[in-house]
Order: sequence, then structure tokens, then C-alpha cells
Amino acid sequence: MKNNPQTALIHAPRQAPQYISTIQPPLFRASTIIFPNTDALFNRHWSDAYDYSYGTHGTPTTFTLGDNIAQIEGGNFCLLAPSGLSAINLVNACFLAQGDEVWVADNIYGPNMEHLRNLETRYGIHVKIYNPIEVDSFQPSAQAKLIWSEAAGSVTLEFPDLVALVNKAKQANVLTALDNTWGAGLAFNAFDFGDEHLSVDITVHALTKYPSGGGDILMGSVVTRDQKLHHQLFRMHAIQGIAISGDDAAQVQRSLASMRLRYEHQSQSTLKLLDWLKQQDEFAQVLHPADASSSGHRYWKEVCQEGHSAGLVSVIFKTKYDLTAIRKFCDSLNLFKLGFSWGGPVSLVMLYNLKEMRELQHTHLQQGLLVRFCIGLEHPEDLIQDIENALKQLNTQQLE
Ligand SMILES: Cc1ncc(COP(=O)(O)O)c(C=O)c1O
Repeated sequence: MKNNPQTALIHAPRQAPQYISTIQPPLFRASTIIFPNTDALFNRHWSDAYDYSYGTHGTPTTFTLGDNIAQIEGGNFCLLAPSGLSAINLVNACFLAQGDEVWVADNIYGPNMEHLRNLETRYGIHVKIYNPIEVDSFQPSAQAKLIWSEAAGSVTLEFPDLVALVNKAKQANVLTALDNTWGAGLAFNAFDFGDEHLSVDITVHALTKYPSGGGDILMGSVVTRDQKLHHQLFRMHAIQGIAISGDDAAQVQRSLASMRLRYEHQSQSTLKLLDWLKQQDEFAQVLHPADASSSGHRYWKEVCQEGHSAGLVSVIFKTKYDLTAIRKFCDSLNLFKLGFSWGGPVSLVMLYNLKEMRELQHTHLQQGLLVRFCIGLEHPEDLIQDIENALKQLNTQQLE
């Protein structure tokens, strides 16, 4: 039967032959996934990984990316979410219930803390803050369910004693969740610290950063090794309708091939900047885990592959520089753009007031306003030059 042109356009008959092979896997975009017959419809098991029944549950494109992320991080299973923050929230929604205690490092990614505070107010979850560089400040009660950590921590970049924290959490039967965005699965294997197979239970990764690498895509992942944990997360992921676009998954998949090279390059450039920043008189403190004076430097050295230290470095300006001066400094930068995020090709700068960000007192941090640099793919000497020029502007202003 010959269809009308309008129908023929919709039911296009051409299928790719089996032998077609391309460098990048084919891209599937789907809400509807067509069942070949009613047997397939009635035998679907949407709660199984890799069951193709509806777009929100996944397509070969999203499953391929998820498998690769699980492999990079050293886990077995991966769920993808539309942003790093939504991946974090999936873990919180899945494992926390009324009356539970959740432990959070004081240097955790800020919006995770905000989300937990929101759960505390609305659902009676108890949020406890621990000092990331003092394992003893983590004192789980019988109600403790989950502990969050980050290595290195957001903005101030302390590297915690992950091995001790995970050991302590295991003894107390507390689930361990690591925001693994900084290490990206490349700096260290959070699922195997080499010590009697010591492993975190869950990693969350803002794929928005290094895996995307372009500064243009938002995505997150939740990786586990344990099938039971994965199934719990899988059901929550499904009932919450958490889904990502096939186009975005294909873009991230494409960038994965160069991720290690970019990460290593950005780590090396950042180490060059670190050396230079440390010699500048304007800063009271330079924060980077590879610096011997940095909090947790010892643990960074123990856990991370040599030289792997991501592309973030923070400086605390001397207190004689007030907010107006620091704003002038940031506005004078040319190559560094003012914006949130990191891991992309363009270097970024952001200013922070630590007093508004930390709940505990931290004696290891100097007073003063903090500026975080996120190192992109530009030549490090050009970046140094850019900061040098902005410092000159800052000092000219101080003299005026
Ligand atoms: C350490 C860390 N975790 C998670 C996130 C959240 O990722 P997204 O921006 O994809 O929500 C960010 C974002 O800046 C981050 O820095």
C-alpha cells in the first residue's frame, strides 16, 4: 500500500545497515521507544538497567555514557541527572528519611548544604556539620545515615583524610557519599583506596565540569559499586522522572575522549600558576592541595596520582584589600571571565566572602576576601600575565 506523502514523510523507511560503524556511537533521541510487538511490551522490566521502555529510563546513548562514567570512576553502575546538583539531590532524596542524621563537611558545595537545610526544615532531617580536616569532628549517632565529603573541598580546597573518614563511617554503618567532581575519577579511585578494598559507597560527579569540558552543558552522575544501592537509586531516579537529553549525552560522550588530556593539562597549568601566585605580595594565603602548606596536603599526596590536582586555585587577599579593591581586581582581568563553574576551556574567576560561607570557625584560613581561579586551556604564561596586570591595577587604586 502506498501512503500519502504526508504519512511517508513521518514513517521514513530507511534504516541504517548493520555494518555501518562510526567513531562516535549513534545518537538516540527518545521519549517514546517503540516496542517490536506486544510480547516485548508485556515482558518489559523498566526497573532493570538497560530495559528500553520509555525515554526517561534511558536509551543506548545515555546508557553508553553512564557505563563510561562508571568505568572512569571505578564503580559498576551509573545514573545520569540533568545537573550535578540534581544528582546530589537524588542521593539525599533516596537515602534520607524523617529523623535521620546526615553529616556534611563544612566545605561542601554550597547548594548541597542549602538543599539539606531545606530538608531539615520540611522533613525533620538532622544536618550535622563536621570539620573536613578533623575526622574527630564527625561523631555519628545511631540515627546517622549518610556522610557527604568532597576532596578537595569547594572553594577552600582542603583535602580530607578520606580513608579515615570512610573507615569511621563504615564502622558506624553510615553510607559514604563523595562529591567526586574535583577528582573526576582521574586523580584517585574513590571505590578503591587500596586499603583492604576500602571504598566510598556513592560518588556524585558534576559532569558539567571536566566530562563536558565545553562550559556549555549541564549534567550529573551518581555512581555505585553495590547493586542493591544502585537499585534503590534507580527506583528514586525513575519515580522522580529524572532524565537527560540524548543530545547532551552524546556531546559529553564525545568530550570524554579528551578528558584525561584536558585534566592533566589543566592540572599542570594550575601548578605553574600556584608557584607564581605564592610569590606575590598581595595574598595572605594561596590554597591548593599540592602546596605543602595547604590543609590536607599529606592526604592529597597519599591518595592522588602524582601531579593530578585539577584546575582550581584560590587566594586570600591581605585584609588591606577591601571588597571595592577586590572587585576592581576581578573587573581588570581580561582572559579570566567572571562566572561560576569550572573545567571548561575558558579560565574563570569568582570572589567569595568566607565569613558568609562557613558555619564552623577555621583557624587554618587567613582573614580576607577570597578569589577562586578556575584554570582553562589557555597558555599558563598568558594567564599569569593577566593576573599580574590586574594586580597592578589594584595597587594603583590603593595608592590613589
Ligand atoms: C563541587 C561541585 N559539585 C557539584 C556542582 C553542581 O554541578 P552543576 O552545576 O552541574 O549543578 C558544582 C558546581 O559548581 C560543584 O562545584
